[in-house]
Amino acid sequence: MCGIVGYYGHQNPKNVIMSGLKALEYRGYDSAGVAIFDKGGVKRVRAEGKLEKLEGQLKNVNFTGHTGIGHTRWATHGIPSERNAHPHTVDGVSLVHNGIIENYVEIKNELLKSGAKIQSDTDSELVAHLIARSLKKTKSLLKSVFAVLPKLKGAFSIVVISEEYPDEIVAFKNGPPLLLGVGKGENIIASDLQAIVPYTKNILYIEDNEVIHVDGKEYALYSHKGKKIKRKVEKIQWNQEKAEKQGYPHFMLKEIYEQPRTVAQALQPYVDLEKMQLKMESLSPKYEDILSKVNRIVVVACGTSYYSGMVGEYLIEKLAKIPVEIELASEFRYRQPIISKSTLYLFISQSGETADTIAAMKLVKEHGAPTMALCNVRLSTLDRSVDLKMYMNCDSEIGVASTKAFTSSLILLNVFATYLGYLKQELNQKEYVEQIRRIVDFPSLIDKVLAYNSFFKSTAEQLKKFKGFLYIGRGVSYPIALEGALKLKELAYMHAEGYSAGEMKHGPIALIDKKMAIVVVAPEDDVFEKTLSNLEEACARGGQVIAIGTEQNEKMKKLALHYLSLPQAHWSLNPILAVVPLQLMAYHVSDSLGYDVDQPRNLAKSVTVE
Ligand code: AGP
Repeated sequence: MCGIVGYYGHQNPKNVIMSGLKALEYRGYDSAGVAIFDKGGVKRVRAEGKLEKLEGQLKNVNFTGHTGIGHTRWATHGIPSERNAHPHTVDGVSLVHNGIIENYVEIKNELLKSGAKIQSDTDSELVAHLIARSLKKTKSLLKSVFAVLPKLKGAFSIVVISEEYPDEIVAFKNGPPLLLGVGKGENIIASDLQAIVPYTKNILYIEDNEVIHVDGKEYALYSHKGKKIKRKVEKIQWNQEKAEKQGYPHFMLKEIYEQPRTVAQALQPYVDLEKMQLKMESLSPKYEDILSKVNRIVVVACGTSYYSGMVGEYLIEKLAKIPVEIELASEFRYRQPIISKSTLYLFISQSGETADTIAAMKLVKEHGAPTMALCNVRLSTLDRSVDLKMYMNCDSEIGVASTKAFTSSLILLNVFATYLGYLKQELNQKEYVEQIRRIVDFPSLIDKVLAYNSFFKSTAEQLKKFKGFLYIGRGVSYPIALEGALKLKELAYMHAEGYSAGEMKHGPIALIDKKMAIVVVAPEDDVFEKTLSNLEEACARGGQVIAIGTEQNEKMKKLALHYLSLPQAHWSLNPILAVVPLQLMAYHVSDSLGYDVDQPRNLAKSVTVE
C-alpha cells in the first residue's frame, strides 16, 4: 500500500521525508516522489521504481523551506510511471493520496468539461484540481479541503500543501491509516509509526473522517464537517533496534527466527503461571458478560490471517464445542450476511488496517453484534473499533509475508479456545490445566524446527526446478497446507496450491507427475493414517513428496523424497510446528531466485484499499 509522509519543522524536510519513506518501503510500492518548499515556491521531484532512483535525483537538490510531503505509490489507477507518481501538483497545490476515489470518473468528466488540464491517469490528481479550484474562492487551504471532501466517495487519505501557505499542511483520513507525530517545534504526518518514531514518540491517532491542520509548530484536529476535536496525544513504547534486521539478511528470516520468543511473548499477558489459569481481563472490562452469552463465533479475515482463523475453527469447536464459521472478509459484506447479536464476530488482522476486514467489522457493528479483534498493531483502526481485544504481541512485523504474526495468532487462538472450553464447561479443571501447561511449555519446541533452515538453504536449488507444488493436509493441518502454498506463491511467484488431502482424488491428483512436488503436512493426529494413504497415492503417481510428520515416522520416510520430522506435540499445537519449515522453504526458494523477499512484487504489507 502507498506510504505517506508530511513534515513541518526545523530539520531539513528532504531528510525527514526520505527517511520516512524508507521506513514505509515495506508497505510495497512502484514509484515515489516529494514536494518541498523552496524559495517561496514548491519544488517537486518524482521517480518510477525504488527510492534509490528518487534519492539519485534529489542528491544535488536543496530546499530552503520548512514544509514538504512525500509518497511511495502502489499503483491502483494508472500504471507505475513518473507521470502517475505522487505528489500531484495543480496551480501550486501539491497532494499525496492513499486509497481509492470511487467516483473519479464523474469528477474527471466534470473537470475536463470546465477546461482542466489533466496530466496523469490517476484519481489522486483530480483531488488536487478540486482543491486548487476551491482555494481561489476560500483563500484557505483548510477550508478548501472541507469544501472538497463532500464531493469525494471512497476510502482514502490525503495530505496537501499549497505554495500560498508555506507553513501549512492539511490531511484527511478515511480508511488508510494516518498518524500525527507531535514533536518539539515540528509536526510529522505519516501512514505508520515507523516513519515517525525517530523524531517523536508523541502520537495523535487520527480517526476516520477527521482532518488534521498543521500550521507551523501548531496543529488542530477537526471532524470532516469542520468541528474542532480535542484528543489526547499518546506516548508510545517503541524499540527501534528491534525493528532493524539484527544481522539477518532479511526481515522475514529474522521474524521466522523470532517465533520461539514472540509466541511466548504473545502468551504472556493471558496466563497466570502461579494459579495455572488464563487471564482474559485485558480483552475488555466486560469480557465475561459478552463471552458468556456467545453461542456462535464467526471469524472474518484475509490471507494468512484467514488461515489462522481456519485453525481457530478446529480449536474452538473441538475444545469449546461452540460452532464456528470462517469468512473471507472480501466476500462477507457482499453476500448480505445474517448478522446475529448472539454471535461473536472475531476479526483477525496483523495490521488492523486491512480494508476488507475493517469494512466487514463496520457492517457487523452497524447490526449491534459483539466484535473482537486479534491484531498486532495497537490503536490500529480495527483495534480502536471493537468490543474485545487480543494482541499478537509479536513486535513489528516488517516482512510483507506474514510469519510470526501467524504463529502468534495460532497460540492465542489456542488460549482463547481453552478459555471458552472451560467457561462453557466442556473442559474440566484437569483438562483445562493440562491444556494450559501444554501451551506454556510449547514455545521452546519451535527452536527444533528452525533447524530446517540449513536444509532448505541447501535444497532450494532443487525445489525451484519443480513446475508446481501441491500442499495437502487434513483437519487442523489443512489450513497449514493453504498457508504453505500462499507463502510460496507470494515469495517465489511459483504455482502452488493448498488442498484438503481428502480432495486429491476429486481432481487435483490428475496434476501429479515427476515434475510436481507434493508437500504433505501430516503430523501425528486422528487423521494421520488417512493422510498417509494420500501420500502413498501421490507417490504411486510419481509425485515427488516432501513430507512433514511427527518424530521419525518410518512409513513416511520410506516414501518421501524429503522427510521433515516435528517434535511430539498436542494436535492443537502441531500447526505452529508444521508451518515453520514451510516458511523457511518459501523464504529460501525465493532468495535462491534472487527475489525481493521482504517486499515481493505487487504485494503490500497492509492492503488498505479494496
Ligand atoms: C500474508 O503473508 C500476506 N501478506 C497477506 O495474505 C496478509 O495476511 C493479508 O493481507 C491480511 O493482512 P492483515 O493480517 O494485516 O489483515
